Amino acid sequence: MLGKKKKSVVGLDIGSSALKAVELKQTRTGFELVHIAHQNLQSDTIVDGHIIDLNHVSDSISRIWSDQHIKTDQVATSLSGHAVIVKKILLPSMPEEELDEQIHWEAEQYIPFDINDVNLYHEIISHDAMSQNMDVLLVACKRDKIAQFTQVISQAGKQPVIVDVDAFALQNAYEVNYNPSPNQTVALLDIGASVMSINIVRGVTSIFTRDISAGGNQYTDLLQKELNLTFEQAESVKRGATLDQHASAEQIQPALDSVSEMLALEIQRTLDFFRATAVDSPAIDRMLLAGGSSKVSELTEYLADKFQMPVERFDSFRSIKFDPKKFDDEYLRELSPNMAVAVGLAVRVAEVVQ
Ligand SMILES: Nc1ncnc2c1ncn2[C@@H]1O[C@H](COP(=O)(O)OP(=O)(O)OP(=O)(O)O)[C@@H](O)[C@H]1O
Ligand SMILES: [Mg+2]
Repeated sequence: MLGKKKKSVVGLDIGSSALKAVELKQTRTGFELVHIAHQNLQSDTIVDGHIIDLNHVSDSISRIWSDQHIKTDQVATSLSGHAVIVKKILLPSMPEEELDEQIHWEAEQYIPFDINDVNLYHEIISHDAMSQNMDVLLVACKRDKIAQFTQVISQAGKQPVIVDVDAFALQNAYEVNYNPSPNQTVALLDIGASVMSINIVRGVTSIFTRDISAGGNQYTDLLQKELNLTFEQAESVKRGATLDQHASAEQIQPALDSVSEMLALEIQRTLDFFRATAVDSPAIDRMLLAGGSSKVSELTEYLADKFQMPVERFDSFRSIKFDPKKFDDEYLRELSPNMAVAVGLAVRVAEVVQ
């Protein structure tokens, strides 16, 4: 007989600088880590969200599965940046079925792409009985981007079953790890190599999301130019390595700070926009920084000072159990902020028809 069975998925975050994979197991007391992998990609593999070298990405995915002996073939992945538009729209209240028919027409007003080039997803967030209106979350993803991301997964012999959005995966990781109280408002940031995703969450409800094309590559670029370094040298200097004949600490920190200032300005603009547009926008209690670039020297301190609020690095394994005989504590702690999106994807389960 046909039936639906819930199966676990491997969360695969295809970032422009690295692939991140996580598999979790749901137990009676919460999630437990089954597999984790981090695999760097060459810097010209994914440019502007576009996978240039499909074979390199699919080979890297295959390698993760074989190195880690992963048995699960179902994969959840996500998109970010220009390929995704997330909008909260106000519509007159109507039954779900009517909305399903109407949403295509409604979306045309809000989506700056040809509506035939995107996949649309929508969800009713709330109804207001007084005004007879409802808030609807509208998500549009470019079809060609979805096709690229699913292609590399299929080419690696795996099954792409979920395509999510980075900002929402980040929120999932936050919910499982931080058990948020309903009236707490947190700005979640994932600062990767080329994209910074922001999701402002109140309790477990997303009230604002935005992706900005900025991230860790800007630090590397500036160090490369100012100190006349190769990409690899600049990357390791950024991570705190001392290359004595190339650069001194007095040159490095000011260069890092100037990029942190630029990122902070982008965040400031986003928060200003949020306050100006979100209805009853609540005060933000704190900021949590995920993504590899959250580890840039003094970035958390810089943002805490700039925004006058607590800023902490995101801990992707805060509430996830792991067997210390299988996983090195130090390794997990080091990779923890980088793995947020992959963890958020891994908590999804695929409904697979048997
Ligand atoms: N210890 C560190 N200090 C500073 N920067 C770091 C450190 N470790 C990693 N990074 C930077 O973090 C970035 C990679 O982070 P992450 O894996 O979150 O990005 P990504 O998902 O590949 O990129 P994107 O989401 O933008 O496509 C790189 O720019 C890398 O140089
Ligand atoms: Mg990323």
